[in-house]
Amino acid sequence: MVKVFLTGTGLYTPPHSISNEELVRSFNDWVAQYNDQHKTDIEAGKLEPLQPSSVEFIEKASGIKSRYVMDKEGILDIKRMMPYLPERADGEPSLQCEMSVEAAKEALAQAGKTAADVDAVILACSNFQRPYPAVSVEVQAALGIEGFAYDMNVACSSATFGIQAAFNAIQAGSAKSVLVINPEICSGHLNFKDRDSHFIFGDACTAVLIESESVVTDSKGHFELLGTKLSTNYSNNIRNNFGFLNRCDERTEFSNDKLFRQSGRKVFKEVTPKVASLIQSHVHEQGVEMSDVARVWLHQANGNMNRLIAQKLFGKEVTDQQSPTILDTYANTSSAGSIIAFHKYKDDLNAGDFGVICSFGAGYSMGSVVVKRH
Ligand code: COA
Repeated sequence: MVKVFLTGTGLYTPPHSISNEELVRSFNDWVAQYNDQHKTDIEAGKLEPLQPSSVEFIEKASGIKSRYVMDKEGILDIKRMMPYLPERADGEPSLQCEMSVEAAKEALAQAGKTAADVDAVILACSNFQRPYPAVSVEVQAALGIEGFAYDMNVACSSATFGIQAAFNAIQAGSAKSVLVINPEICSGHLNFKDRDSHFIFGDACTAVLIESESVVTDSKGHFELLGTKLSTNYSNNIRNNFGFLNRCDERTEFSNDKLFRQSGRKVFKEVTPKVASLIQSHVHEQGVEMSDVARVWLHQANGNMNRLIAQKLFGKEVTDQQSPTILDTYANTSSAGSIIAFHKYKDDLNAGDFGVICSFGAGYSMGSVVVKRH
């Protein structure tokens, strides 16, 4: 086995933040307008009135207080309720390329490496803004990297699945230094008119540099990847039917199922125990006890869910130190979430400390990465 290290992380945070108060005000204005416009049918009992959203519900049910987005104005405009992200010409850098380059540059700088040191780029996220040419190849060109690049999508678990792909490429000898980037523009697939989910997502991009020991001159301070473990079980409880065949049926081309939807409660109940047992078994397989794990960087979808998972893992209520939260200010940034938590809360760990990066989401899909600080 070749030793593999995570030597750098980067984060791109979009320029605008939307608080729950702002989001709920806009949603409720839209609901009032809708109910007013459909007053006659509602009074005649032909139509159910829409219900308002509430800041208190959002914070209590999810732990989310605000989210960063690529465009705030379009989302809050009740005539629109989606970000305004004008299409760019083929010759211009795509949005996902721009955010990827920002995050990648920070990861490279942190690792003390340049584009010349990297030989593969994996873009792993929930939504790509086009099918081809692969956005990763555009990012590779924008950074000036030789070698190869590819896109992959395993929804919220894309980061850990991407890290496993990088780990395997290094073990197989097909690369020595791999950038794994997660450019998530979740506001593009979120239905801001859906009360159950309008508050869930935010936008962000993360990057990690994964390297073979053969190109790491001094491992001090870096995180060794002891191993990765992935798991998938088919479920329709988180689903998005957007795809290239949508245009082949005009009746349903733009229907709401072409955006994110979920049965949140079912997801909560079904995924929580699966994640806890994945991490437990993975840590055990690595010859590590949970009592030796200093920190878990969990997927950031729901604060209550993370509290329960951490409790199951450690056998007691845990501190923010043991399981840091970023979803209060970032919301659910899909695959970027656990990496944002890692990026922000890793530097205080001591040499010899163990940790687990874990993502989970649609599929269902789950990934665990056990790390040890040098
Ligand atoms: N404002 C006010 N009330 C709301 C509301 C809103 N925005 N959205 C839903 N409600 C109401 C519901 O109508 C329901 O009312 P009822 O009890 O009268 O029927 C009540 O609040 C509870 O709704 P429910 O959907 O059961 O809430 P919840 O406690 O399960 O929380 C989630 C919803 C989405 C926050 C939560 O289920 C969750 O985060 N699940 C995990 C999702 C996940 O991890 N996904 C993977 C990553 S994508």
